[in-house]
Amino acid sequence: MKKLTPFFIIIFTLVFGSAHAEYVIKFSHVVSPQTPKGKAAQFFADTVNDRLKGKVHVEVFPNSQLYNDNKVMETMRLSSGKTGLMAAPSLSKFVKFSRQLQLFDLPFLFNDISDVHKLVDSPIVDSMLKPLERKGIKALGFWDNGMKVFSVKGDKPLRKTPDDFKGKKFRIQSSNVHDAMIKSLGGTPQKLPFKEVYTALSQGVVDGQENAWSNVYSKKFFEVQDYISVSNHSYLGYLLVVSEDFWKNLPVDIRNELNAIIQEATLKAREFAAEADASDRKKIEAAGKAKVVDLTDSERAQWRAATANVEDEFRKQIGADLLKQVHQLLGH
Ligand code: LMR
Repeated sequence: MKKLTPFFIIIFTLVFGSAHAEYVIKFSHVVSPQTPKGKAAQFFADTVNDRLKGKVHVEVFPNSQLYNDNKVMETMRLSSGKTGLMAAPSLSKFVKFSRQLQLFDLPFLFNDISDVHKLVDSPIVDSMLKPLERKGIKALGFWDNGMKVFSVKGDKPLRKTPDDFKGKKFRIQSSNVHDAMIKSLGGTPQKLPFKEVYTALSQGVVDGQENAWSNVYSKKFFEVQDYISVSNHSYLGYLLVVSEDFWKNLPVDIRNELNAIIQEATLKAREFAAEADASDRKKIEAAGKAKVVDLTDSERAQWRAATANVEDEFRKQIGADLLKQVHQLLGH
């Protein structure tokens, strides 16, 4: 058979794929399909396309193919009708929409991922999501990635502060909490979209970055960095969102089925994240490019002490009561 050209493949998909469904959801994300978010998005799409065949069709666009995270939220707020835009930007990218969500970026608030689950599974998060609705964004679920590590180029790893961070520039997400944290550690922060990180690291525009293992591995950051410090200093996780207008115009039975599938996808995201956390570290170590360095308890205590001011700085914006409730819930 003659090979189909990309043009015919697109036409074929439009005619026989999504065009046969009443509603279309375009799921845009910035990471690789092999990451926890990439896999959870694909699981969601496959399950919807199977169980809601003819009613809803989901297409996934990974690797910033469609939008970067800031752009996707702007576009989402304007989208309505029968085609909805869905995304799962990291919680760090929501500062414009909810000041309370900045809590998730605080360094050393969560000891580990089970602390995060305590919070996202509690009703405390409802108040953090409320402001989004007023801005045309419907929050549907929290998806895990993992605790973050720091990578850097240079002749020594980041071990203690502030000396090791001094004179070094670190890529951060568009989060003011991250900005304050890097400054407290003695480094210089630079906000950059995820899509630009590999080039910025390889060309020396920045010296280092912080991220979860799956992103350091799938985007090959480890190939252009010398050291990775296992600091587990804060959390990288996502909020699954869709345009509020699109969501509320869906028939109730479809919305209920989508909600059920989202709950399954959320559990899958936790599984995928736990797997990636262990296996992607191992793959990076086996590659023998960046050296992985575990921090001792006393080194970690120094990082914690150096960044303790960040919570004070953001207490008013996040809300003193909310912070108090979260500390009570976590028991530390
Ligand atoms: C980043 O910008 O580093 C992350 O938010 C990317 C992602 O979605 O995991």
